[in-house]
Amino acid sequence: MATVIRIHENGGPDVMRVEQVDVGEPGPGEVRIRQTHCGVNYIDTYHRSGLYPVALPSGLGLEGLGVVEARGPGVTELEEGDRVCYATGPIGGYASARLITAEKLIRLPEDIRDDQIGGHMLRAMTVQYLLHRTYPVKKGDVVLFHAAAGGLGQIAVQWLKHLGAVVIGTVGSDEKAEVARKLGADHVINYSTENFVTRVKEITDGKGVPVVYDGVGKATWEGSLDCLGLRGLMVSFGNASGNVDPFAPGILAAKGSLFLTRPTLASYTSTRADLVETATGVFQAIGSGAVQMGQAVEYPLADAVQAHKDLEARKIVGSTVLKP
Ligand SMILES: NC(=O)c1ccc[n+]([C@@H]2O[C@H](COP(=O)([O-])OP(=O)(O)OC[C@H]3O[C@@H](n4cnc5c(N)ncnc54)[C@H](OP(=O)(O)O)[C@@H]3O)[C@@H](O)[C@H]2O)c1
Repeated sequence: MATVIRIHENGGPDVMRVEQVDVGEPGPGEVRIRQTHCGVNYIDTYHRSGLYPVALPSGLGLEGLGVVEARGPGVTELEEGDRVCYATGPIGGYASARLITAEKLIRLPEDIRDDQIGGHMLRAMTVQYLLHRTYPVKKGDVVLFHAAAGGLGQIAVQWLKHLGAVVIGTVGSDEKAEVARKLGADHVINYSTENFVTRVKEITDGKGVPVVYDGVGKATWEGSLDCLGLRGLMVSFGNASGNVDPFAPGILAAKGSLFLTRPTLASYTSTRADLVETATGVFQAIGSGAVQMGQAVEYPLADAVQAHKDLEARKIVGSTVLKP
C-alpha cells in the first residue's frame, strides 16, 4: 500500500486528502518506485485550485525522487535499486510509492546526493532551459529576475552569476533580500517597499535590461515590460500572484519592439533527448559547484495542506519537499 495525496474537487489547500492505495505491479515500460522526496512546486497549487484544469479526482505533484522497486516488461535501462528522479510528471508525485513510465525517469549520478535533487529538480531544470535556451545569458548581461529568494529564484541567482551576468533580483521582504544577496545577486530590490521599475532604470542608467524573467505574473507584468530596453525579451514563466490580464499586442510596440515568450518546462523537455540534456545540465551545475542546493523546507507527506498554505502565503524561502 502507498500513502498518496489526492483531490476530488478544486479549491484551497484543504481539498487535499490523504488516502491509502494499492499501487500494483508495473505494466509494460513502467517501473514502481518507492519515493523518499516528493517535490512541491507552485504549479501544484494551480492544479489544486483549478487555475490549470486537471481531470478529477486527481493526484498532485509532478516531481519525485526514490528507488526503483520493480520493473515491468520491456524496461531495460533501469535496475531494481537504482536511484532515480523525475520532474515532468505525470501528475501524482505526492505519494510514498507510484508506478511511472521509465521514459520519464533520470538515473542519479553517483556523485549527486538525494538531498541535492529531491524537491529541487523541477526548479533546477526550469532554470537550465530558461538561462541556456529561452534567452542564452551571456557574460555581462544585466538580468532582472523576480522572486530571487524563492525556490526557483535561489537556483537562478547562482546560475546567472556562474554565467557572468549582473543580477538584479526582486524580493518581498528584507529577510529574503539578505538571502538573495548572500547567493550573489548584485542588486536586490524589495518590491514590497520600493518601485522596482525606478530602481532598475537607475541601475542601468535609463537603458533597461535585455531580459526579464518573471514568474510572479499579474503583480509585476506591467512593471517588467517597463524595465526592458529596446527589443528586450519578456520571459513570463509563472503566475505566483495570479494570471496576467489580457492585453493588446500593441503594448509591445509602444514599449520598444519587445519580444514576449511564455515558456513551459514541458515543451522544453518533450523529447527524451531534451529531457536528458536538461537534467544533465543540472547535474553538471551541481557537480561543478556552480550551483549549491540549499536545504529544502521539509514537511511530512501527510502535511501537504500546510506546505501549500505556507507556499501561497510567501512564507517559504527556498524549495519545498514532502517526505513520505
Ligand atoms: N514555466 C515553467 O517552466 C515553470 C517551471 C517551474 C516553475 N515555474 C514558475 O516559477 C515561479 C516560481 O516557482 P517556485 O515553485 O520556485 O515558487 P517560489 O518562487 O518559491 O514562490 C513564489 C514566490 O513568488 C513571490 N510572489 C510574489 N507575489 C506573490 C503572491 N501574490 N503570492 C504568492 N507568491 C508571490 C513570492 O516571493 P516574494 O515574497 O519574494 O515576492 C513567492 O515566494 C512560479 O510562478 C512557478 O509557477 C514555471
